[in-house]
Amino acid sequence: MASVRIIGIGSYLPAQRLSTGAAVERIKRAGGEADTSSEWILRRTGIAERRMAETLPTVSLAFRASVRALKQAGLRPKDLNLICVPTITAEERLPITAPELQRKLGVSRLGRPAFNISAACSGFVYGLAVLVPMMRDSPRYQRALLVCAERLSRHINWSDRGTAPLFADGAGAVALERTDEDGVGVLAVNIGANGEAGTAFTLPVQGSITMDGARVFELAVEAMVCASREVLAEAKLATTDLAAIVPHQANLRIMTAVAKRLGAATDQLITTIREHGNTSAASIPLALDWAVKQGRIKPGDLVLTPAFGGGATWGAALIRW
Ligand code: UT7
Repeated sequence: MASVRIIGIGSYLPAQRLSTGAAVERIKRAGGEADTSSEWILRRTGIAERRMAETLPTVSLAFRASVRALKQAGLRPKDLNLICVPTITAEERLPITAPELQRKLGVSRLGRPAFNISAACSGFVYGLAVLVPMMRDSPRYQRALLVCAERLSRHINWSDRGTAPLFADGAGAVALERTDEDGVGVLAVNIGANGEAGTAFTLPVQGSITMDGARVFELAVEAMVCASREVLAEAKLATTDLAAIVPHQANLRIMTAVAKRLGAATDQLITTIREHGNTSAASIPLALDWAVKQGRIKPGDLVLTPAFGGGATWGAALIRW
């Protein structure tokens, strides 16, 4: 059977940094009823700074990450048969981000499919769950770009200390290629959702994020552990086979709890939340790109990417790099 592998990765972080100290000042200025501190935020979330896109729209973040992923893969935009953009923070409902990205890449005339996915922080894993079978089943889809881009800073309520310290902007993209080689690339993907838990995390079309942090915390650990166990079992592999666990970067304590419950060693866990904050769908490809550049993920390594997000949605992918 054909496989789908990652042949290029790229990411983009906006230049503007917001330290947790500066965020605390902003939260205090916003006049919320409750107090906070840098120490509390760093200790309870692991976040020391984040990036803010300011005026840069989501599609521009996506474009910049895409150009880098294509370059690393040695591809030109016209080589792409498919573009998929997981995002929950497109500024506009129409034009849709993915066709707009296709236009920016200069390949609209080719008329190839481009679509968004809305799965919040599980967007990267949902994207793989949709693209991999499409590409496996049809030689028409030889190469695809999965581009996760989020501009969450537009939706922060600075008077809410429970959410304002967390969310950030950024984009990460992977170039995927269909190959006739068996058992390489994306080995297994598992996704799930539970609408009953939807109200734990909300984002109106025009408005700010609300979250029942403690509830989301519990749900996230449980769902990420279950999804991880399922993909490992499906591939007949174990935690000890993993070179890296790259979870959605929601909270350092969530990631540590997931790794611990999977029986992983601390050096198997990749975290970028300290510098990136929570960038929703973009957080896994951003962390993957960082880990590859640091030499923490090398060709042939086995990588697990558990995710949990609004919806509630969750999933995990197992990738032979
Ligand atoms: O991206 C996917 C979805 N998002 C997540 O997975 C995030 C999940 N949740 C979390 O990361 C954590 O729940 C938070 C970081 C949001 C909160 O941490 P926590 O340890 O779960 O705190 P908590 O919600 O259980 O609240 C404990 C206390 C509360 O005070 P009271 O009611 O005990 O007086 C909160 O109001 O901590 C308070 N608190 C804060 N205190 C100082 C919440 N945020 C802050 C803050 N500074 N920024």
